[in-house]
Amino acid sequence: MGERVQRCFSCRLLFFFFLLGLALKVRGDEGSDSKQCDLFTGTWMMDESYPLYQPATCPFIEREFRCLGNGRPDLIYTHYRWHPLACNLLRFDGRDFLEKMRGKSIMFVGDSLSRNQWQSLTCLLHSAVPNSNYTLVRVGDVSIFTLTEYKVKVMLDRNVYLVDVVKENIGRVLKLDSIEGSKLWRGVDMLIFNTWHWWSRRGPTQPWDYIQVGGKILKDMDRMKAFEEALRTWGAWVDANVDPTKVKVFFQGISPSHYNGSLWNEPSARSCVRQKTPVAGTTYPGGLPAAVAVLKSVLSTIKKPVTLLDITTLSLLRKDGHPSIYGLTGAAGMDCSHWCLPGVPDAWNEILYNII
Ligand SMILES: *[C@@H]1O[C@H](CO)[C@@H](O)[C@H](O)[C@H]1NC(C)=O
Ligand SMILES: *[C@@H]1O[C@H](CO)[C@@H](O)[C@H](O)[C@H]1NC(C)=O
Repeated sequence: MGERVQRCFSCRLLFFFFLLGLALKVRGDEGSDSKQCDLFTGTWMMDESYPLYQPATCPFIEREFRCLGNGRPDLIYTHYRWHPLACNLLRFDGRDFLEKMRGKSIMFVGDSLSRNQWQSLTCLLHSAVPNSNYTLVRVGDVSIFTLTEYKVKVMLDRNVYLVDVVKENIGRVLKLDSIEGSKLWRGVDMLIFNTWHWWSRRGPTQPWDYIQVGGKILKDMDRMKAFEEALRTWGAWVDANVDPTKVKVFFQGISPSHYNGSLWNEPSARSCVRQKTPVAGTTYPGGLPAAVAVLKSVLSTIKKPVTLLDITTLSLLRKDGHPSIYGLTGAAGMDCSHWCLPGVPDAWNEILYNII
């Protein structure tokens, strides 16, 4: 009898320590440390305190993203906040961001989806300090937004493939192994890269005539393979040129389009027009675009630290976030690739703010 009581006591003691350990572990997991928790799995929640800025407080939103100004009648899409399941996302604080980045430069490099995120960040920052002077100039392919008081530069280098397109005697050559455009990236403190949407272009809007890979000149090739080759060239540039103690490197991730309602269980929808609410829940019925796996596999081979802003799934849920007929070309166009501002790219920048 005495021995049984004794055993039971030690087993209770063990059980007590087991519970204590479990409680400590759970507390550790709940912390909002962005390195510990997954910022990219979550759901969109209605929050009337969003958007983070009013369109009127951002005078330089380009027509392409200025959905309200272009006549979009519904505004519910601007009132959603991204809510990761595993951690709390801090609300974007422009002043805090500017203090952290004082004297530093940020450059987005990529296509119009980079421009979308760049514009969002300039709006977020300007609306946080509306009385602080700014300048906005374009030098060649680089747009430079400067908050002079903070000496913070937020730049955009328009470079749709990251690798080079060169005019030669035979025509325009897309060179998968050449990355001379990188000279514009030197000396920048934070680089946020992106490429994808232009890899599938064909016909009159394809800006090259030949592809060069290795020593070979080709008329065309598997576009996903070409994308992968270019990413490898870019990754080799990162490994050879980036000093991680000075420069933070991000990849923006694949921004998805919404032209096929079957992918969000609404087969009658041929585009994103008149979509007013996000897909509920945490997963997208149509799954991920194939480019995501290619991107992740190349990123895993890069030795220097590169942070992926893995925004694909959270953006897939936002079939309501595109300009549709309230974009650059109005009712004549149907833009389900870019994003209205204020809107989804503000959440990408809110995540960026939580990582840095
Ligand atoms: C903004 O610029 C104006 C004109 O150059 C100058 O008078 C003013 O002092 C500046 N404001 C700040 C806060 O630097
Ligand atoms: C839309 O997606 C469905 C499901 O993947 C596919 O079967 C269909 O062919 C797609 N439609 C178009 C027009 O691409």
